[in-house]
Amino acid sequence: MRKLFFVYFVLLLAAAVVHGEDGAYIGVNIGTAMSSVPAPTQITTLLRSQNIRHVRLYDADPAMLAALSNTGIRVIVSVPNEQLLAIGNSNATAANWVARNVAAHFPAVNITAIAVGSEVLSAQPNAAPLLMPAMRYLQNALVAAALDRYIKISTPHSSSIILDSFPPSQAFFNRSLDSVLVPMLKFLQSTGSPLMLNVYPYYDYMRSNGVIPLDYALFRPLPANKEAVDANTLLHYTNVFDAVVDAAYFAMAYLNVTNVPVMVTETGWPHKGDPSSEPDATSDNADTYNSNLIRHVMNSTGTPKHPRVAVPTYIYELYDEDTRPGSTSEKYWGLFDMNGVPAYTLHLTGSGVLLANDTTNQTYCVAREGADPKMLQAALDWACGPGKVDCSVLMQGQPCYDPDTVEAHATYAFNAYYHGMGMGSGTCYFSGVAVVTTTDPSHGSCVYGGKNGTSLMNGTSLAPSSNSTEGGSGAHREFGDVSSLVRIVSAALLFSALLLL
Ligand SMILES: *[C@@H]1O[C@H](CO)[C@@H](O)[C@H](O)[C@H]1NC(C)=O
Ligand SMILES: *[C@@H]1O[C@H](CO)[C@@H](O)[C@H](O)[C@H]1NC(C)=O
Ligand SMILES: *[C@@H]1O[C@H](CO)[C@@H](O)[C@H](O)[C@H]1NC(C)=O
Ligand SMILES: *[C@@H]1O[C@H](CO)[C@@H](O)[C@H](O)[C@H]1NC(C)=O
Ligand SMILES: *[C@@H]1O[C@H](CO)[C@@H](O)[C@H](O)[C@H]1NC(C)=O
Ligand SMILES: *[C@@H]1O[C@H](CO)[C@@H](O)[C@H](O)[C@H]1NC(C)=O
Ligand SMILES: *[C@@H]1O[C@H](CO)[C@@H](O)[C@H](O)[C@H]1NC(C)=O
Ligand SMILES: *[C@@H]1O[C@H](CO)[C@@H](O)[C@H](O)[C@H]1NC(C)=O
Ligand SMILES: *[C@@H]1O[C@H](CO)[C@@H](O)[C@H](O)[C@H]1NC(C)=O
Ligand SMILES: *[C@@H]1O[C@H](CO)[C@@H](O)[C@H](O)[C@H]1NC(C)=O
Repeated sequence: MRKLFFVYFVLLLAAAVVHGEDGAYIGVNIGTAMSSVPAPTQITTLLRSQNIRHVRLYDADPAMLAALSNTGIRVIVSVPNEQLLAIGNSNATAANWVARNVAAHFPAVNITAIAVGSEVLSAQPNAAPLLMPAMRYLQNALVAAALDRYIKISTPHSSSIILDSFPPSQAFFNRSLDSVLVPMLKFLQSTGSPLMLNVYPYYDYMRSNGVIPLDYALFRPLPANKEAVDANTLLHYTNVFDAVVDAAYFAMAYLNVTNVPVMVTETGWPHKGDPSSEPDATSDNADTYNSNLIRHVMNSTGTPKHPRVAVPTYIYELYDEDTRPGSTSEKYWGLFDMNGVPAYTLHLTGSGVLLANDTTNQTYCVAREGADPKMLQAALDWACGPGKVDCSVLMQGQPCYDPDTVEAHATYAFNAYYHGMGMGSGTCYFSGVAVVTTTDPSHGSCVYGGKNGTSLMNGTSLAPSSNSTEGGSGAHREFGDVSSLVRIVSAALLFSALLLL
């Protein structure tokens, strides 16, 4: 027994050493493209109240670093893309950067990594030749300051540099980047640093025009026959996030690099967008994505290719950034608004000590948007008949008669059934035409049964965690490149193959 345990322990330890990080954790990106940026001490107060222990900054702002000192919070600082030219051209400038932005604050600020640029290879390919020199010069400076043991150098990549990423086993890095990526992977290998990757299932889903099921992007359970199977490895993929991370592992393996861990420097889901062009940027989907992500990462489930190997992950992002240009959703990736009010409540029961505690259980069961009306009607009939829901309030003249649509009536009945069943798992399904939401569907005089539908976000009675979670900012907005097209087409083939089975 003891021996077995010991062997197991050594294996775990080996995995931890190979993968070079302190196990599973969730961090948050802190972007500051806001019309009114909270004071650094307000930011750290929020971080502490949410038990956020890992953050990434998009620069190395001295006031922010001062506020982070002696908090125990681990910090990734960044070299903004605009500074690459100077640093990549001069050892002395790099040394100066490290002296001012890192050495001056360490160890009071527990700086764990320097992110050199942001998605340089895809966003600013003309700066690509400067990337390796900048990373090397910064590494030289860390070595000279005897900080290289504590601080790693890497650079966040867009997942769009990985081509053919579905199925993951066929993924490879865009070959025209080899001249940078091959030496970079050697560098990461020799310094024990992670490959930093930004992973956006939201964009993969959006670009796929329905090929990627929303459930697959949101880590929702899929029927077994809808799971994506990698035909080469027979690995089953139940979510886009794992598939992208494994695509990175396979792309590295293609270049013979198998011992560089992946760190996800950005991922998330917008909670609001333009209703006509971004209908899936909703609080419910953002809650579902981030809650499931956190559970997935904290459980050290790993990926199908590397089970039980933690993937440290930074959520994008702490605050909504109201001055970001671009589509509406660009401004709404935050877990909080700029006053620190949660944008929505995460549902994290069972994921331990982190971020927003889900203590609310305030969920409702509603008709799925766009569900087939015939199936809705059948489910409604079932709920009001064999399901034993009291549907009298749906009769003409009763409070929930209006609007007289099958969606509205089904929503009432589904929710009543769901609450009647104690919101047990599987009780909001109705052949897939029902979904759980945190938004109270009550309207006018039609007040929904079950738990009282007061706002989840206003209550001071909620645990510390209800003022939830994470943030960041950054380069997540490149899209529409050829690689994603390739990806979508491959995904389409993959999924249609599955459907034929
Ligand atoms: C800084 O973070 C590293 C990595 O998580 C950890 O091992 C170390 O103990 C921390 N140092 C301090 C002073 O908290
Ligand atoms: C850069 O500086 C480091 C020490 O800071 C030194 O070891 C290295 O040789 C220098 N490299 C160049 C190209 O000047
Ligand atoms: C990877 O290893 C194989 C077999 O040793 C070799 O043929 C190939 O050239 C290597 N590829 C790279 C990019 O180093
Ligand atoms: C955590 O991982 C274990 C083993 O991999 C699995 O059985 C369990 O369902 C997971 N829990 C959650 C909440 O994902
Ligand atoms: C979450 O809730 C539990 C139980 O109420 C509590 O013990 C724990 O400290 C809370 N965690 C956070 C981060 O607030
Ligand atoms: C939330 O629901 C779960 C399962 O239904 C239950 O175990 C837990 O006690 C509930 N928590 C609260 C705060 O009501
Ligand atoms: C909800 O709260 C209102 C006002 O506090 C109260 O009148 C009503 O009875 C409550 N409904 C339920 C179902 O608890
Ligand atoms: C929160 O409370 C404020 C003031 O009491 C109210 O105006 C606002 O509508 C509430 N928010 C929600 C989501 O109910
Ligand atoms: C949660 O946020 C509200 C509104 O910003 C604030 O009044 C309250 O003090 C916060 N609670 C905690 C525990 O941080
Ligand atoms: C590969 O990278 C090159 C150089 O950045 C770029 O021009 C090209 O479009 C990329 N190819 C694909 C398929 O993304």
